[in-house]
Amino acid sequence: GRKTIDELVRADEGLVSRSIFVDDEIFQQELQRVFSRAWLFVGHESLVPKPDDYFVSRMGTESVILTRDRQGQIQVMLNSCAHRGMKLCRYDHGNNRTFTCPYHGWSFSTDGKLVERPGELVGVPGHATHYKGELDKKQWGLKTVAQVVNYKGAVWATWDPDAPAFLDYLGNMRLYLDAALDNRDGSSGGSEVIGGVQKWRVKCNWKFAPENFIGDLYHDISHRSVDIVGIGPGGGRGRRDPSATRSAICFPELGHGLLGRLPFYEEGPYAPQYARYPEVEAYYREVHERRERTLGSAMRVQTSVGTIFPNMSFHGRQPRTLAVFHPISPTEMEMWRMYLVDKDAPEAVKEAARHYFLRYSGPGGMTESDDMENWTGATEASMGTMSRELYFNYQMGVGHAEPVPEIPGCAVNGEYTEENARIYYRRWAQFMNGLSWDELMAGAARAQEAA
Ligand code: FES
Repeated sequence: GRKTIDELVRADEGLVSRSIFVDDEIFQQELQRVFSRAWLFVGHESLVPKPDDYFVSRMGTESVILTRDRQGQIQVMLNSCAHRGMKLCRYDHGNNRTFTCPYHGWSFSTDGKLVERPGELVGVPGHATHYKGELDKKQWGLKTVAQVVNYKGAVWATWDPDAPAFLDYLGNMRLYLDAALDNRDGSSGGSEVIGGVQKWRVKCNWKFAPENFIGDLYHDISHRSVDIVGIGPGGGRGRRDPSATRSAICFPELGHGLLGRLPFYEEGPYAPQYARYPEVEAYYREVHERRERTLGSAMRVQTSVGTIFPNMSFHGRQPRTLAVFHPISPTEMEMWRMYLVDKDAPEAVKEAARHYFLRYSGPGGMTESDDMENWTGATEASMGTMSRELYFNYQMGVGHAEPVPEIPGCAVNGEYTEENARIYYRRWAQFMNGLSWDELMAGAARAQEAA
C-alpha cells in the first residue's frame, strides 16, 4: 500500500522520501491541502500603483488577478469567467476598469461605486432578451480570495476563510521579512519592484527552491565560480564579506526560516562594497546610518535569505529580492523574481541594483543558473522506480537547535545545519495530514505564552 505522510516525512530523523518531489498523487494533495489553505504571496503593491491597475498572478496552479480597485483597495480574484470558465484576463498586467470575457462577453467589475463586492458580474450580453432578465447577476461574480493583506507593500492572500490573521501566520519571522520589505526605517513600504517581474520555468519540484532559501548555506560550493568571477553588489570579487557570520534561524512551529543574525546583535559599522560607484556607496552609507539612528537595536536585523512557508523566499537587506515558486507539476515549477529598491533612491542606485540583479539572479544570473542545474538534476535522478523509493538525507545538526528566549518561537542553530529544512518539511507534513488551524497554530501560541 501507499506510505502515509508520516512515513514519507520523518523529519525528526532527518529523512524525507524522494516521492514527495516526484509523485503526482502527492502533488494533487499538496494543491488542496497546502495551496488552498496557506497564506500565499501574490505580488507587490508597486506592480499596481494606480486605481484599475492589474497584475496577473498565481496561487498554486491557478491564475489570479491582483488589482487595485477605484477605492485604492487591493483585490485578488480567480482569473476564470463564472460562465464557462474562460481565462478572463490574458495579459500579464495592465489597467482595466472592467474585465470582459473574450468567450461570450460577460463583464466583471471591482469598482466599489458600481458593485457590492469585488468581481461582481455587471454586464451580460442579451441579459434582457436571451436570459429574459432572469439571470441573477449577484450570484455569478468571480471567485475572490477569502482574505487578502497588504503587508508593507507585499500582498498575501488565502482561499481559506478560517486561516489565522496573516501576522499570526508569520509570527516573529516578521522581524526578518521587514528587513526585506523596507530598507530604511521599517515604518512604511517605501520600496518598488524594478525591471518588471522575471518569470521562468524550471524542471524541478517546487519545494527545492524554498528548501534551499530557508538556510542551505552548505550548497555554497555550487557557487564557487561566482566567487571566482566576482559578481557581488559592488561588482567586486566574491559575493560577501567573509568575516560576516550567519546562523540558521528558524520558527519551528510555523515552518519559516532564514540565514541571518539575531536582531539583538548590533548591525555593526557600515561595510563598504560599492567602491566603483561613489554615489551608490554614499547612498547606502547614509541609509545605514539613518537606520542606526532611528531604529531600536531590536530592529536592526540582518537577513541574507529566508523562506516563508510554503513557497515564498526573499533576500533581506540590500540587495533585496522577493521570490515565489509556483507549482506546475510534480516535476516542474515556475519561478518568479521581483527586485526591490527604495522608491526614492537616486537613479544611479537603481541602475547599479538592476545590473547586479541581472548578473546575479534570474534565469540568466549566475547563482540561479547554478541552483537550477542542481534542482533539475536532483529531480530527474529521483523520478525512477528505484530512486523514488529512497530518502533524502537531512541529518546535519539533528538535536542541536537552541531556543532563543528573547524571541518567542525562535530557534537558532550553527551556520551549517539542516534544521531549517527539517522544520519546513515537518510543517509541510502537518498541512498534508489535514490538521485544523487550531492544531496548526497551537505550537506558536504555546511559544508566545511561555515567553
Ligand atoms: Fe466567459 Fe462565457 S465563458 S462569457
